Amino acid sequence: MPSNLTEQTITGAVQRTFDTSTDERFRQLFVCLVQHLHDFAREVRLTGEEWFTAMDFIERLGKISSPTRQEVVLLSDILGLSMLLDTMSQHGGSSTTDSALLGPFYVEGRPTAENGADISGGVAGTPMFVTGRVVDEQGTPIADAHVDTWHSDGEGFYDVQQTEKLHDEFAMRALLTTDEDGRFWYRSITPRYYPVPTDGPCGEIMRAANRSVMRPQHVHFWFHAEGYQPLITQLFYRDDPYIGRDAVFADQDSLQADFVRHEPGIAPDGTTVEEPFVTLDWTFVVAAQTDGQ
Ligand code: BEZ
Ligand code: FE
Repeated sequence: MPSNLTEQTITGAVQRTFDTSTDERFRQLFVCLVQHLHDFAREVRLTGEEWFTAMDFIERLGKISSPTRQEVVLLSDILGLSMLLDTMSQHGGSSTTDSALLGPFYVEGRPTAENGADISGGVAGTPMFVTGRVVDEQGTPIADAHVDTWHSDGEGFYDVQQTEKLHDEFAMRALLTTDEDGRFWYRSITPRYYPVPTDGPCGEIMRAANRSVMRPQHVHFWFHAEGYQPLITQLFYRDDPYIGRDAVFADQDSLQADFVRHEPGIAPDGTTVEEPFVTLDWTFVVAAQTDGQ
């Protein structure tokens, strides 16, 4: 501890304790973190009482977290840090599809499905026909790409949020594979907007800020193909009432899509649908793998 400890000198004193680390990246991260933390406290003149409140908040974040309740991830999401990192890690050129959060509702072990399958798992709702194409930055179709897709039901709930009702069966999610023309297609039901969890510490922040807790209607996609960088993204209803104020900042313009509503008639898969239905058609552009990625 330096003898001439002041509000300014303490920062350097703490930073120098990392000089002995042999891990250069670790050292860089902590020296910079200490700098910003101390600058933050000095700038806002943080009081001891406020910091105790914050530490209690962090403790409660940890206590409520579990493998199925990711409150720490949610904090990163609602503070925009998750989407900042997503944006920073976008390796492809400007022509690649933008990425967006994985979110907490992706699950391992989801069923595989053939193109054209109904992946709704029997959940009632407005029929939705999704047709997609996976191409590289030159527009060349990517065959045999794996396409994970998942979404909520018409009430805004994912299958994993209603395991009792659905008897632990997967619904509204599947792993598909693109054909030789890079195409995939499936039938399901339309999702709906839903709130992020608000019964934990993150809910307190959103309420205190009087901000929207809703996520506009969206469908998730995760593409993996040999020789290409994985792409995790979401497509949003362009005309959703919550578009432009997604609680987790993923609903960027480039990912807003037309989910087109049709009167009863012939669906894209050639079947006759006797109720109104919705179609979504999108081309996803993925980046080729480069050395070291
Ligand atoms: C989702 O996309 O499913 C999601 C993302 C972040 C927080 C809550 C939900
Ligand atoms: Fe979602």
